[in-house]
Order: sequence, then C-alpha cells, then structure tokens
Amino acid sequence: MDIKELVSAAIAARQNAYAPYSEYLVGAAILCDDGSIVTGCNVENASYGATVCAERCAAFSAAAQGKRSFSAIAIAGGKSSEKDELSDYAYPCGVCRQVLREFSDPAKLKVIVARSISDYREYTLEELLPNSFGPDHVK
Ligand code: THU
Repeated sequence: MDIKELVSAAIAARQNAYAPYSEYLVGAAILCDDGSIVTGCNVENASYGATVCAERCAAFSAAAQGKRSFSAIAIAGGKSSEKDELSDYAYPCGVCRQVLREFSDPAKLKVIVARSISDYREYTLEELLPNSFGPDHVK
C-alpha cells in the first residue's frame, strides 16, 4: 500500500468534516489488514461534548464493517481556511490513540500525520502511546 494513497484519502475525507463550532476540519483514513481503506471525519455537535474526532469516526466505521485489525492511519487536520497545504500536523488526541490501540499492534500501527500529500511524518502508535493498556491485559 502506498502511503500517499492513504494520505490522499485522509485529505479527501477532511472535506466531509462537520465542524461549524471549531472550524477545525480533520480527515482520517485507516488501512485495514484486508487491504481496504476506511475513512472518517470529525463530526461536531451543538452540545460540544457529543463531538466525535475523525480518527474515532474512521475506527468505529471500520469496526461496524467487521474490520478489527488496522495497520496504518493517516490524519490531516487544520482550520477551514486551510485547503491543500495545512499549516501544521494534526496528531491524534489521547482518546483516539487508545481507541486505535484496541484494533492494532502498537509496535506495528503506522500513524501518519500529513500537511499535504508530499509532506507528512510517520510514527508507530507505540511512540505516541507508550506502555499502553490493551485487550490482552483484561484477558
Ligand atoms: N479533532 C479530531 O478530529 N481529531 C483529533 O485527534 C483532535 C481533535 C477534532 C475534534 C473537534 O471537532 C475539532 O477537532 C477541534 O477540537
């Protein structure tokens, strides 16, 4: 799988972000172990607290399709005034890191934060969520 393809899917998914309150639009694209890509975007709510991040939107959408094993996620986020070239890398929040942990091996899951199709940084989930708590701990 080409990383650029995953980044491109995240940038495209960002167009569907519903963020009238923060005006901060995020797109995420998850590469599942079966080779498919599942995307998500942040969906805000007038209550604010009911807002869901793009990464969780993508992760839960994949889970709803029966896909419970992820190998990579690309994320693209920035203010609505920013279009193709984002000013910063959007890192997943702590809750989203924990949700990704549920469906991946943290040493293997690639987390790609992108400003554009040719400008991105790559990490493992383990780097972003060290010493994590996962399904094995409660078996
Ligand atoms: N947001 C995400 O979609 N992903 C993150 O990891 C951090 C924050 C969204 C939630 C909210 O709609 C907006 O960005 C501002 O916090």
